[in-house]
Amino acid sequence: MARALELARKGVGQVSPGPLVGCVVVSPGRDIVGEGFYLFEELNHAETIALAQAGEKARGGTAYVSLEPHAHHGRTPPCTDALLAAGIKRVVAPIEDLNPKVSGKGFAHLRAAGVEVQTGLMAGEATQINEAYLHFMQTGLPFVHLKLAVTLDGKIATRTGDSRWVSGPESLAHVHELRHEYDAIMIGAGTAALDDPLLTDRSGLPRRRSLLRVVVGDRSRLSPESQLVKTAAEGAPLLVLNGDLHSILKELAARSLQSVLLEGGSGIAGEFVDAGLVNKVTFFVAPKIVGGIAAPGAIGGRGVEKMADAFELERVQVVQRGKDLEISGYPRYTKG
Ligand SMILES: NC(=O)c1ccc[n+]([C@@H]2O[C@H](COP(=O)([O-])OP(=O)(O)OC[C@H]3O[C@@H](n4cnc5c(N)ncnc54)[C@H](OP(=O)(O)O)[C@@H]3O)[C@@H](O)[C@H]2O)c1
Repeated sequence: MARALELARKGVGQVSPGPLVGCVVVSPGRDIVGEGFYLFEELNHAETIALAQAGEKARGGTAYVSLEPHAHHGRTPPCTDALLAAGIKRVVAPIEDLNPKVSGKGFAHLRAAGVEVQTGLMAGEATQINEAYLHFMQTGLPFVHLKLAVTLDGKIATRTGDSRWVSGPESLAHVHELRHEYDAIMIGAGTAALDDPLLTDRSGLPRRRSLLRVVVGDRSRLSPESQLVKTAAEGAPLLVLNGDLHSILKELAARSLQSVLLEGGSGIAGEFVDAGLVNKVTFFVAPKIVGGIAAPGAIGGRGVEKMADAFELERVQVVQRGKDLEISGYPRYTKG
């Protein structure tokens, strides 16, 4: 399963709006006889690629698949049919695919045909690699990941609005890897005006769709001379959206965009936090102090009254990046 998950990750940037899926086929003699992973443009699913490699050696064997195989006719014929036709006797898949067309039906089809189905193995990892896809399937809204760089005193810029650069080169390089995982990147009109950012994915890794750059605010605040507007004319997509956050997210969902990296500033970040619409948080904390009561803190908005009401993060991870600490986790909005 660890290998199936590793294969699935090879599709990062190239599967949306589908899920990351990896498959390993093991013969009855316990040899790995086939491997595959999904890429949206290739049409073949991870299972069919791995089964084709395995050929007759798959008969009586086990398929390890990182997500429930589908049993419906979509862009491709059902993978459950391919597994049955290849003579697979056991399928190990950690989690259900929450796509309503698939959910539970793949496992049911296999079981009805006499295949042993085992679920739950490495379910945490399998859920995490597809967290955006699963969230989108469950809620119909894109997964929102708030990413900010802060100083030790919690500031995202100095009192003059200067924010280049809060974090060090290792963190900045990692931001491009993060951007590569997302369908859209979003900032507020304040950041667009003050920072004149480019907001492109410069990871150098292949991606199926261009990263859509979204500015929330009034179009009149975007200068025609800004990098965002100039590069839009050269083909890097840019969308300016206004209105309540829910309808902004719905607008992105209608474009099959399943994930958004929200890169600030504090105004828009505060609105998202207040609305309970942030699904994941990553802060790069730099060991610097800028001070100044007028220097913006990371999160604006209304905020909470009591410390007991703070949004706590769960499944917290801490990674050292050069001199910075990258702290990430998932906000828990309901108490108890
Ligand atoms: N360190 C970091 O990671 C980081 C990241 C980003 C930014 N920054 C810094 O943060 C500062 C900017 O923060 P900020 O709070 O001033 O700006 P911001 O959050 O980027 O933008 C706030 C503006 O966005 C618009 N907006 C927000 N929600 C809206 C909605 N629902 N509908 C329409 N418009 C909406 C409003 O524009 P209007 O006022 O025009 O209505 C609002 O004033 C800069 O100094 C920048 O350098 C730091």
